[in-house]
Amino acid sequence: METDEFMNSKKSHEVQSMSEVVACLAQHCGVKQVIDVGSGKGYLSSFLSLQYGLHVYGIDSSSSNTHGAQERNRKLKKFSRAYQKHNKAVRAQGKAAHSPQEESEEIKPGVEGDNDFSHGDGVGLSQEEEKEWDSEPNQEQDFFLSALSVDVMQPSSPRVPSSQLTDEERERRKRESLERKAQNRTSANDMFSPLTSYVTAETELRELIDELEDAVMVGLHTCGDLAPSTLRMFVAKPELSAVCSVGCCYHLLSEEFDPAGQECLHGVCGFPLSQYLRQGSWFCGRNARMSACLALERVSLGQGIQMESLFYRAVLHVILRDHYSSFKSEKRVGNVYSKAKSFVDYVHRALLRLELDESKLSDRDIQDYHDTYKPRMGEMHAFNLLKVTLAPCIEGLILLDRLCYLKEQEDLSFSALVQLFDPLLSPRCYAVVGLKN
Ligand SMILES: C[S@@+](CC[C@H](N)C(=O)[O-])C[C@H]1O[C@@H](n2cnc3c(N)ncnc32)[C@H](O)[C@@H]1O
Repeated sequence: METDEFMNSKKSHEVQSMSEVVACLAQHCGVKQVIDVGSGKGYLSSFLSLQYGLHVYGIDSSSSNTHGAQERNRKLKKFSRAYQKHNKAVRAQGKAAHSPQEESEEIKPGVEGDNDFSHGDGVGLSQEEEKEWDSEPNQEQDFFLSALSVDVMQPSSPRVPSSQLTDEERERRKRESLERKAQNRTSANDMFSPLTSYVTAETELRELIDELEDAVMVGLHTCGDLAPSTLRMFVAKPELSAVCSVGCCYHLLSEEFDPAGQECLHGVCGFPLSQYLRQGSWFCGRNARMSACLALERVSLGQGIQMESLFYRAVLHVILRDHYSSFKSEKRVGNVYSKAKSFVDYVHRALLRLELDESKLSDRDIQDYHDTYKPRMGEMHAFNLLKVTLAPCIEGLILLDRLCYLKEQEDLSFSALVQLFDPLLSPRCYAVVGLKN
């Protein structure tokens, strides 16, 4: 099992914090279904179903994501069972070392002994997976698995050994155990259903989900227009009782009033959502939205901005202006900085990606550009720090517009912006939360 096969610590933090809120919303609304839009690899969906017993439909436009999510969820279920089996064995060893009298007086953590999740549904670990399990579990797996098993770690009442029970009590215990097993079998089998579909505000959920009931709609780091689409769907669909949406990638938002912006899909734009900002024809523009993706908290600790990479990029633009007529292309330079050995190497790699003629410039010419602009790096640093400082204002505008949109709806009983994550671990840390009457 690879380290990142389940989750890294950032994702674990996000999934655990968000799940707690989603589970509370579901409980408050009395619903068991959750629709996770942009579910990606299905971490949140898996956790909500395995840890909170919710029936989760995870919808993602990428089929490799949804297929991967299904497989990962299958493995998670096995590991979860193996973990509980392992715990049970450890407890049994502990028990063997005590007398029955001591055992009945002691309160210790663990499930009822008959409730063995690892048997009964025909899903065992393969030899390979057993081996993986035997090896030292890494931190992430530990973290997730211990979180998964919170319910089995809670103290239970003292357990009287079977030999001391009456026939009637033994019969009752057996019946209860069978009922629990049956319950676990159904819940473990189909509590997470990954679906592949491109979601927009107009998506008909009933066409995707036959068994649709009242549900909570969630989205963790739904990029660009997917977050506003989530909120529009929540408002439009009576089945959706609550919403919890954390957006990201603001640079991908479409804008209704940006004169330089591209057309919105089906005329429905991601910004602004609220009547309040629409009346004023507000727009941010791509540069401002790019800034909104920066992470002030990280930068203030000296992390987050690779100044040299930005400097290389800026000088590349000067070269493109001077020698390639301010060349514009659909092609992306991408992250060539991490592979480049020097500025000259960086420019060669970038020109190659853009399919431009490298022979126009000698290495000496390229190095001269670098040396000419190097003394101005301080200015660029200051400019970027100013951008980072303003980033929360722009993110604030985008998030408050979403909140304002919910506040403008008549049938909502509650709406708020809630900080769910530690911004150092996960900079896009605010959720828009809404509840219908
Ligand atoms: C940043 S990822 C987040 C994935 C996941 N929620 C998580 O936190 O691990 C965004 C996901 O949304 C999916 N996505 C983006 N736009 C979508 C759309 N319109 N409909 C469905 N999925 C979409 C992408 O394929 C991607 O998996």
